[in-house]
Amino acid sequence: VVGRDVGALGKHLALIGFMGAGKTTVGREVAARIGRPFVDTDEEVERRHGPITKLFAERGEAEFRALEEVVVAEALSATEPAVIALGGGAVLSEATRERLRMAAHVVHLLVDPSDAWSRAGGADRPLATDEKSFVRLFEERLPLYAECANASARGTEDVLLGGLGVTVVAVSTGVSLSPDALVADQAVLALHPLDLTCPVLTVPSGESAKRLDVVERLWDALEVDRVGTLVAYGGGTTTDVTGFVAATYKRGVDWAAWPTTLVGQVDAAIGGKTGIDLETGKNLAGAFHYPSRVVIDPKLLETLPPEERRAGLAEVIKTGLLAGGPFWELDDEGMVRGCAAYKASVCLADPFEETGRRAVLNLGHTFAHALEAASGYELRHGDAVALGLLAALRLSGLPTDVVEDVLAPKPVAVDLDAAWAAMRRDKKNREGRIRLVLLDAPGRPVFPVELPEAEVRAALAELVRH
Ligand SMILES: NC(=O)c1ccc[n+]([C@@H]2O[C@H](COP(=O)([O-])OP(=O)(O)OC[C@H]3O[C@@H](n4cnc5c(N)ncnc54)[C@H](O)[C@@H]3O)[C@@H](O)[C@H]2O)c1
Repeated sequence: VVGRDVGALGKHLALIGFMGAGKTTVGREVAARIGRPFVDTDEEVERRHGPITKLFAERGEAEFRALEEVVVAEALSATEPAVIALGGGAVLSEATRERLRMAAHVVHLLVDPSDAWSRAGGADRPLATDEKSFVRLFEERLPLYAECANASARGTEDVLLGGLGVTVVAVSTGVSLSPDALVADQAVLALHPLDLTCPVLTVPSGESAKRLDVVERLWDALEVDRVGTLVAYGGGTTTDVTGFVAATYKRGVDWAAWPTTLVGQVDAAIGGKTGIDLETGKNLAGAFHYPSRVVIDPKLLETLPPEERRAGLAEVIKTGLLAGGPFWELDDEGMVRGCAAYKASVCLADPFEETGRRAVLNLGHTFAHALEAASGYELRHGDAVALGLLAALRLSGLPTDVVEDVLAPKPVAVDLDAAWAAMRRDKKNREGRIRLVLLDAPGRPVFPVELPEAEVRAALAELVRH
């Protein structure tokens, strides 16, 4: 990250919002998904001092607020990043607002006042006794929440996206990114022109953007300040090369991604991996450099050629199998939102590929990379992933119909020995043993799985046309 502040990486994810917004339920879910401890400050106040209603009645609101401030301060000073759900009125304290600015990425969990009242009204809450004053309080607090929040959200998926600075918008508001310079795929710019005043630099379409000579040209052309923002507008190749330029130019400048392909929106633009290709292999020079924002507009996908959509669908099915949700059955917005939120959750859990949790994203990819290598990179990545998913499902003992129905992969004519040799070189392997990502069930990935070699080779052979 080059010491930069991106979303909730390395800091607390704090949930604020009105009572009845669901901060406790959503917070607990988010914490479980990203492998962090969960703190609910109301529960903590009650654990230490007894029921809040009683505190209000016996000691008054001011004293309750003072006790709450201490609990929040303690939670925010913990060194291990947590998910913290704050009581609805906690942000009334100036000291708490300052601590939130310093130590947390703050997400405002939105709720409509009528829903909030039906959940929290009349209940055992001192400030929810009659609807009129409840709604008045709601309106008073809104500006305060907006002032404190880095992102706003409705539900778990949104919080996960917001936690990594990702927004899914139904219509293009990407211009709100206000770039200091835009790096665009020239074909995308022709299809979806933009009315911007900043300098626009173009890169070629496709893998030929991820080359050192393109990087050099961009370095030379850039006149971005150390604090400026570079925005990438295009598919995964554009975001990979732009992110790499941002990671290296003046030792790292801020960047944002505005992905325009399905692969970009569900995968490449999220997770901080940037890089270019070398003669000796793909993605061999690169850096982790998270974009501070990712703006996803599913409408841009309407012009995507069918083969590019298919490439993205292979990743959508992979993600759906990992998450246990049929994302491929949703409309574009739902599909992209679900997949992007899943990838964001895995990246928040393991931002720099250090704990192994991120390895699950390789479902089907060990086979895919082997087939691509054996084809001399003639086989398209999406088609290779489709075949790899077939093998992973078969070895998991699970039905393969989703992959067959949506992607209909056909065995490929490559040399089996060459593919096997490539599989044995996979970087996840340890001490010469192939380590696979498989599924106990949809939604329950397991890694690492080591199976007898003969079984893995037989699964690979089924993908190869003889
Ligand atoms: N960084 C990561 O974590 C990560 C993850 C997955 C893939 N990748 C990388 O992403 C790259 C593949 O990305 P990709 O599949 O988006 O390819 P791409 O960027 O080459 O785009 C594919 C094609 O679609 C065109 N296109 C883009 N947007 C369009 C639109 N809205 N309408 C019509 N055409 C459009 C492009 O001009 C190009 O010809 C690979 O280099 C891969 O290594 C990176």
